[in-house]
Amino acid sequence: MRDLGHVQTNFEKQASIYDDCITKLIPKYREQNELIPKLIPFDRERGLSAIDLGCGTGILAYLILQRYPKARVIAFDLAGNMLEECKKNLAGFEKRLILKKGDFGIDDFGSGYDIAVSGLSIHHLDSVTKRRLYQRIYRALSPGGIFINRDIVLGKTPVLTEEYHERWRDYMRSCGEDGKMWFNKYLEQDTPDSAEDQMEWLKEAGFTEVECYWRYINFAIFGGRKAG
Ligand SMILES: C[S@@+](CC[C@H](N)C(=O)[O-])C[C@H]1O[C@@H](n2cnc3c(N)ncnc32)[C@H](O)[C@@H]1O
Repeated sequence: MRDLGHVQTNFEKQASIYDDCITKLIPKYREQNELIPKLIPFDRERGLSAIDLGCGTGILAYLILQRYPKARVIAFDLAGNMLEECKKNLAGFEKRLILKKGDFGIDDFGSGYDIAVSGLSIHHLDSVTKRRLYQRIYRALSPGGIFINRDIVLGKTPVLTEEYHERWRDYMRSCGEDGKMWFNKYLEQDTPDSAEDQMEWLKEAGFTEVECYWRYINFAIFGGRKAG
């Protein structure tokens, strides 16, 4: 399942509506955004190098650039239209932002990063490619670096997954969205794994301090560090 053509096509189409839609599709999206920069353990005055894998319209890149005035961020994405929106949203940060088009499942995304973040993106990869990606992210980090991933995940058991899916559809409906339509798209196109399995893969890749920082139904923020 390496062909991500359908993912790219979808995000090319959705780029202009993404920011309006996303809070109605992802529960507690803003709460997640508030938490993520606070999980980064570095001094604010440090000159940091960061990458946002699957940056979309740029929210995580923005949060890093805002919190760390000397940080440089690579915003990496498959979809050119998403990168265009990211460029618009992050106007004013041009000197510290590099936009890069590519597929992080197969393309080189550089190295020497203190921070790697990813949001709602890695679940598009199959389990084998996710596992390999975590090894590549580990290698791409500098000693002392941190990786944080917020993503759609499966529950620990099929029963929990089923319950989470029901509550997720309810959430989308309560926001006026067609929960069934979005959920069917998700079933057709997305390949999430549990947070527990992915944290094991992080440990296997060499990450330490692996932790699930936040969790709500089928959404989680988890990550780990590369020993300094
Ligand atoms: C749901 S959006 C998330 C945007 C943002 N990170 C956030 O947290 O809101 C997912 C983004 O990941 C990108 N993406 C998905 N798979 C990718 C891959 N293999 N390589 C690069 N970008 C990818 C899509 O093009 C899309 O812009």
